[in-house]
Amino acid sequence: MIGPSFPAGFRFGVATSAQQIEGAAREDGRGESVWDHCAAKPGFVKDRSDASRACDHYHRWRDDIALMRELGISAYRFSTGWSRVLPTGEGAPNEAGLAFYDRLVDGLLEAGITPFLTLDHWDLPQALDEKGGWGSRATVDAFVAYADVVSRRLGDRVKHWITHNEPWCVATLGHELGAHAPGRRDPAEALRVAHHLLLSHGRAVPVLRANSAGCEAGLTTMVTHVEPASTSAEDRDAARRLDGSFNRWFLDPLHRGAYPADAVADRVRRGHLASAEIPFVHDGDLRTIAVPADFLGINYYSRAVVKAGPDGEPVGVPQAPPEQLTEMGWEVWPQGFFDVLTRLTRDYAPKQIHVTENGAAFADPPASDGVVADPRRVDYLRTHLLAAQRAIEAGVPLAGYFAWSLMDNWEWAEGYTKRFGLYAVDFESQQRTAKHSARFYRDVVAAHAVPTVVPQYS
Ligand code: FCB
Repeated sequence: MIGPSFPAGFRFGVATSAQQIEGAAREDGRGESVWDHCAAKPGFVKDRSDASRACDHYHRWRDDIALMRELGISAYRFSTGWSRVLPTGEGAPNEAGLAFYDRLVDGLLEAGITPFLTLDHWDLPQALDEKGGWGSRATVDAFVAYADVVSRRLGDRVKHWITHNEPWCVATLGHELGAHAPGRRDPAEALRVAHHLLLSHGRAVPVLRANSAGCEAGLTTMVTHVEPASTSAEDRDAARRLDGSFNRWFLDPLHRGAYPADAVADRVRRGHLASAEIPFVHDGDLRTIAVPADFLGINYYSRAVVKAGPDGEPVGVPQAPPEQLTEMGWEVWPQGFFDVLTRLTRDYAPKQIHVTENGAAFADPPASDGVVADPRRVDYLRTHLLAAQRAIEAGVPLAGYFAWSLMDNWEWAEGYTKRFGLYAVDFESQQRTAKHSARFYRDVVAAHAVPTVVPQYS
């Protein structure tokens, strides 16, 4: 049984990022990124791997476009590696790097696939980090110059631009919790980083529009559905705090031109800001950040149910037994996807929303007869696509959905231990094998609708 059709023009795609798939880390003039640098530190990446080879997409991109054709998708979200284009993050562009993306974009267009290009998917050039990284306002200028270089070169053909991927992760995981590159633990710096990421978005959008006539530009943020574990005032306040620091800290400046007052007060109370007068927010910054975007990109994976810890801070309360979680330890909660999409529409009224990532890591069994059976991923995709469909019916201006990810890849600090792909990758031989989820997604794309019953693949 097939559910109702998605609207005409709705785009189904897949997503990847440069650092996670390209490999060829030291080829053709590419410079070091913060993730290359951190991966070399003992203990930073779980399996001690790095992304120097990853999926070898730099050499195998033609084969990877063939996989996309097999899926029948009409859009592909990828990122340009900042240090491949500008090895030290600024100065003269690396022609070989630009030429690679030139060929990739042409290849996609020949295959009838619309490129959605992310400029910053976490791979800040290491040389810029050594000059202060995202904590420094100079990095805002460097990002705008990088956006200019890439959009001058590709803006005649690329018409969908995403400035940043998930600023929360770069700011909080990278600068407050030290779990992601560049691995720092300084909450005050993390807030400065978040501001500079947002500001560089606001400054880059007009540059993209100038270089890419008629383009659409936006930013991708991770949105988590936050619920209190009980109706107690303390738990509800813990949920408010998490929603404030995780979701609204980014969504409010982008759509309302202000940081959320309650979340600012939380940071003052915790000593991360001296007062509500934030010193690194200069006159005019908030107006710049609130530049009207053409779409909001969101990545949705799971929800968070929280209670108040001893100091009132949110503490996660597991809702499902471990065997029901994904390999990342994330609960499968499609209703949260619907809730997030409708909430964003209600609270922020974006012109359009693209789901720029959604997917699940499960340990897949080995291939047999050239196929990998991954029923849990099929179910994840099916239930989330049905939630997306319901959200559209409820009035959400959802224009596209990108499954994360085309193929298994280098999952940051988790290395190669977490597999999100529709295609399995043997990282030794670099062979790609379709999983049942690839077949499922191909059927969804072809029908422009989602099966309402669980498909049985033999
Ligand atoms: C997102 C990232 C993406 C990938 C998925 C699993 O936060 O944007 O690169 O790591 O999570």
